[in-house]
Amino acid sequence: MSTTTYAQHLAQLQTQLESALARTGFDALLIASGIEKYAFLDDRPYLFQPNPHFKHWLPLTQHPNSWLLLRPGHQPRVVYYQPDDYWHVPPSAPTGEWVQHVELIVISRAEDAAAHLQVPGRLAIIGEADAALESVVPNNPQDLIHLLHYQRAFKTAYELEQMRAASRRAAPAHLAARDAFLAGGSEAEIHRAYLIAAGHTDRDLPYGNIVALNEHCAVLHYQYQDTQRPAQSRSFLIDAGAQVNGYASDITRTWSAGGAGSAEFDALLAAMESAQLALVDEVRAGVDYRDIHLSTHRRIAAILQDQGLVRMSVEAQLAERVTSIFFPHGIGHLLGLQVHDAGGFMADETGAVSPKPEGHPYLRLTRPLAAGMVVTIEPGLYFIPTLLRQLRASASASSVDWAKVERLSRFGGIRIEDDVVCRAEGPAENLTRDAFASLS
Ligand code: GLY
Ligand code: MN
Ligand code: MN
Repeated sequence: MSTTTYAQHLAQLQTQLESALARTGFDALLIASGIEKYAFLDDRPYLFQPNPHFKHWLPLTQHPNSWLLLRPGHQPRVVYYQPDDYWHVPPSAPTGEWVQHVELIVISRAEDAAAHLQVPGRLAIIGEADAALESVVPNNPQDLIHLLHYQRAFKTAYELEQMRAASRRAAPAHLAARDAFLAGGSEAEIHRAYLIAAGHTDRDLPYGNIVALNEHCAVLHYQYQDTQRPAQSRSFLIDAGAQVNGYASDITRTWSAGGAGSAEFDALLAAMESAQLALVDEVRAGVDYRDIHLSTHRRIAAILQDQGLVRMSVEAQLAERVTSIFFPHGIGHLLGLQVHDAGGFMADETGAVSPKPEGHPYLRLTRPLAAGMVVTIEPGLYFIPTLLRQLRASASASSVDWAKVERLSRFGGIRIEDDVVCRAEGPAENLTRDAFASLS
């Protein structure tokens, strides 16, 4: 039998782990999958969020109270919690390729896990505090976690397959959402169209969908969905992903309803689309991701000038921080098991911090790019009332075409976000554009 990418993935994780344990003086690692949490004074559970370290090894995302025991020279031991529960659907009997690669122990009572996790030596235990069993209490050793987080940025072939699939799952849903927008749907209706096309429910999404019409497009993490249809649908920003075996896609598209009244917005959208593609092209091995962020500010300044929104040179806009009014977030982040994946600020595997550029507090990735990293590239240009008030009060106010700002404010803003894989050489693989292209 030829080796599968999953088997290779496990073998690579095992090699990395053995080295990390040796370097930090541990004999074994225990990983808790996590526990279900309940609303205060209530019996309703919050949506279960698995420990990302657990799902790095296993494609199991709905499995609270399970554990993983990892030791040098041993197969992973999975203590698999499968309660006899007639109120809920318990996890199904273990199936899938992963089963062949592990020592499997099925338990029906959460506390029985402890008996299968007792091994001699010094134990590292990664998990949330609430997952503790009487004799197994997470200690989350930071030096070991640093080593694991640093490595996690470099995706294995198996992980890239999951992430390609996660983009392919989201792309048709984005188009269904666009069609629902063009048909005049409410935010809630558009959201439902997205879910149906993705074959997801809200529970399956890697993050809450951002489904914004008109002025709502200016709210970076707009968290509601109007159930009322707007009187007029002008613009639509959707930031929505999908999940495959615990791996996320994170995709944003902005659409215009078109028509005579939207010419200025459409021109801005076209300029942002070109800038986004150029920024994706900057993703190359060896490039400092901070430089892509700073390049975004220069490109946004040029757009603001070209579109007649700000009568200031690129250099003057940067000096006066004008672009931060219109683009007040980072250009992107690592992506993988978590939407904002771990390890974005690590200068090296010991946990030394790579600083953010001065004046750019929201950038989430400061590492040099290397082959196998998956990052988002998500430039935005928004008309955010509270930030525009700051601009109005600044020395740059007289260089702004406020009438145009006012007109464009009715469209809220623009964000375009792709998920891209840095390659050892040449341009990046664009998971998102490839997924859309495969539909046409
Ligand atoms: N969906 C959140 C983000 O783009 O970072
Ligand atoms: Mn993102
Ligand atoms: Mn996003």
